[in-house]
Amino acid sequence: MTTSTMKKSHSQWSSRMGFMLAAAGSAVGLGNIWKFPYMAGEMGGSAFVLTYLIFMFVIGLPILVMEWLIGRRGQKNPIHTMEDVAASEGRSRSWRWVGIIGVLGSFLILSFYSVIGGWATDYIFLAGKGVFLNANGEITGQIFTDFLGNVNHLLTWHTVFMAATAFIVAMGVGAGLERACKVMMPGLGILLLILVAYAAYVSGPAFGESFKFLFTPNWSAINGTAVLAALGHAFFSLSLGMGIMMAYGSYLGKDVNLLSTARTVVILDVLVAMLSGLAIFPLVFANGLQPGSGPGLIFVTLPIAFGNMAGGTILGVLFFIFLTFAALTSSISLLEPTVELLEEKTPLGRKAATIVSSVIIWALGIACLLAFNEWADVKLFNKNIFDLLDYLTSKIMLPVTGLGTILFGGWMMKQTLIKQELNLSPTWFTVWTFLTRFIIPIAVILILVYGFMPEN
Ligand code: TRP
Repeated sequence: MTTSTMKKSHSQWSSRMGFMLAAAGSAVGLGNIWKFPYMAGEMGGSAFVLTYLIFMFVIGLPILVMEWLIGRRGQKNPIHTMEDVAASEGRSRSWRWVGIIGVLGSFLILSFYSVIGGWATDYIFLAGKGVFLNANGEITGQIFTDFLGNVNHLLTWHTVFMAATAFIVAMGVGAGLERACKVMMPGLGILLLILVAYAAYVSGPAFGESFKFLFTPNWSAINGTAVLAALGHAFFSLSLGMGIMMAYGSYLGKDVNLLSTARTVVILDVLVAMLSGLAIFPLVFANGLQPGSGPGLIFVTLPIAFGNMAGGTILGVLFFIFLTFAALTSSISLLEPTVELLEEKTPLGRKAATIVSSVIIWALGIACLLAFNEWADVKLFNKNIFDLLDYLTSKIMLPVTGLGTILFGGWMMKQTLIKQELNLSPTWFTVWTFLTRFIIPIAVILILVYGFMPEN
């Protein structure tokens, strides 16, 4: 959000609640419902899931707090916030690079995010037309394969999704979206619960199997790739490392308790991911599908539930509407940094800046979309364009900027200020300092190095 729109809408918010909604809206998105289950499936389940859960609380939560804290001190866009806060602490201006890489990363993420947002949007109509009625895994798999092969179709929905994102950002995020969020997010939660109950009910032993697959520790399945993926996903899922949370923090009142707010956001975010896993994997196992089948997982599994349950058509339509909305509340947060940068660094106004950035991101999105069909064989480092962008952002850029943030907060800022801001008791302050100075940076560096070892 721009300074002006954020300030405007912020003044209308009941402060903490409005802020939580914006932060949770950015965090909860395709990452939780689409990406988390298929990654868990590809990485063999529980070892990845438990590592991800640990990272969310031990690494993600402190970095989230740190981004808000720095943002609240800086009161500007992420690049200038980093620059100013660094200057006020007597540190190098080069810290602004944390913000710069962040903006670049959000730009790259949005290009593939919009393609998947387009899938979600299109599935509203597929579900509504009743194509999944009585379908089994083979049928929903075929529908999805045909869907991926149809370039024009994918392009249309990617365009629609990107246009919707641009439209909202150009207008500024008014009360409309925030209000819709208040309805959509709980709606999504309730539907997920219904789906979990349905999955538990129809799939019998497969539910227990899923539970085991997701939560019974199986540390033999863990390797550098899975740990790096879990770290990257913790960042992705909390919208960290891109300066977005820093920007949100810059509109925060002093009265907001950062730690408790962060805890709520992390718990919500984790809950949505876990519920998605529990809705999806029973259907995977009960229908003989492959857990490791990749980005199509939810689009193949959930339609089986909608095709066979009472009221499934309407629930399917609602589910994909909510999913599209969850994706939109995240995609607008991804577009904002690029727009803000163009607005400030070029003569472009807000509308023009939005159009220019959206068109470039949209064009890059077309390359991602073609990776699922015509360009499936165009590979660099043995990855297609979609995988490459995902890898570059989630596994490299997000952890690197996250590391920059925590190093800055842990070593460059006056710790007494942080103690005051967070209102920590001496014991908790010791824990906090130990975490942010040593544990988190060392863990992130080790994971990055280990994740890049050739055998991984
Ligand atoms: N967190 C969102 C999701 O889970 C995606 C997202 C929004 C994001 N803003 C971000 C990811 C910033 C990384 C950085 O779907």
